[in-house]
Amino acid sequence: MSVEVIETIDAIRERLHPVLLSDDFMGLVPTMGAFHDGHLSLIRKARKDCDSVVVSIFVNPHQFGPGEDFRTYPRTLKSDLAHCEAMGVDVVFAPSVKEMYPREPLTFVEVDRLGDHLCGLCRQSHFKGVATVVSKLLNIVQPDRAYFGEKDAQQLAIIRRLVIDLDLQVQIVPLPIVREPDGLAMSSRNQYLEPPERERAPVLYRALQMAQQQIEAGETDSGSILGEARRVLEEEPLIEVDYLELVEPEEMQPVSEVTGPVRVCAAIRIGSSRLIDNILCEKPTTDS
Ligand code: PAF
Repeated sequence: MSVEVIETIDAIRERLHPVLLSDDFMGLVPTMGAFHDGHLSLIRKARKDCDSVVVSIFVNPHQFGPGEDFRTYPRTLKSDLAHCEAMGVDVVFAPSVKEMYPREPLTFVEVDRLGDHLCGLCRQSHFKGVATVVSKLLNIVQPDRAYFGEKDAQQLAIIRRLVIDLDLQVQIVPLPIVREPDGLAMSSRNQYLEPPERERAPVLYRALQMAQQQIEAGETDSGSILGEARRVLEEEPLIEVDYLELVEPEEMQPVSEVTGPVRVCAAIRIGSSRLIDNILCEKPTTDS
């Protein structure tokens, strides 16, 4: 028997109505499809935690800017559904763009400040598109828990904040980045990399690890930490640095000094691809 796939908002609401009335604990894994092991770890965790698991697969046009890869974004529905079936997902919600946006939307969800830096600088309306579609999905499915990966740390911070600010009754569950053996963070966009680019891409994680080592060794000046990390990136002529920042993890604002937990976040361009990654770092504890 194959996994149940529902394509309309009315039908998913009707299907989930008895689940919402029952004591069943429901988990949602929102995705844009093109599954890799990162997605599978979210689904696995949801399956472990929840009585009912819903996976949404929707490539959301409103989070792609002009000239970005909305049209060419990998769409692998058949194999995504096979994974869902194998992992015991109860329902896949896979609406069309017309179903989610039957008319030009005039209402958007925007989270101030958190999207101003990092990816928000070069992807102007990206987080507005993400916050809006996630709000719509949470409203349609009404899960008890929703699962997101930490690779998109800024997206995660924004979603956590919108859930708090809008009093949504859902628990956001973050899961660690899943990496290839050479350290490259898994991403549906990694398949855009040509072989020589793929070979060099792990430099991004090496640069983040360099920052982490310094923080763990007690360095607190963000200029020195980022300078060393940038040197690692500059050893690779094929890449261009979009940003490399130290931010506090809640509001993702840049810090000049490490006084508590910080996230080192970076984005690089390599060939026609843009890769992002981050690492959470803790200052060493000083015994008095
Ligand atoms: O992280 C993603 O795949 C997307 O941004 C999300 C959260 C499914 C919203 O479209």
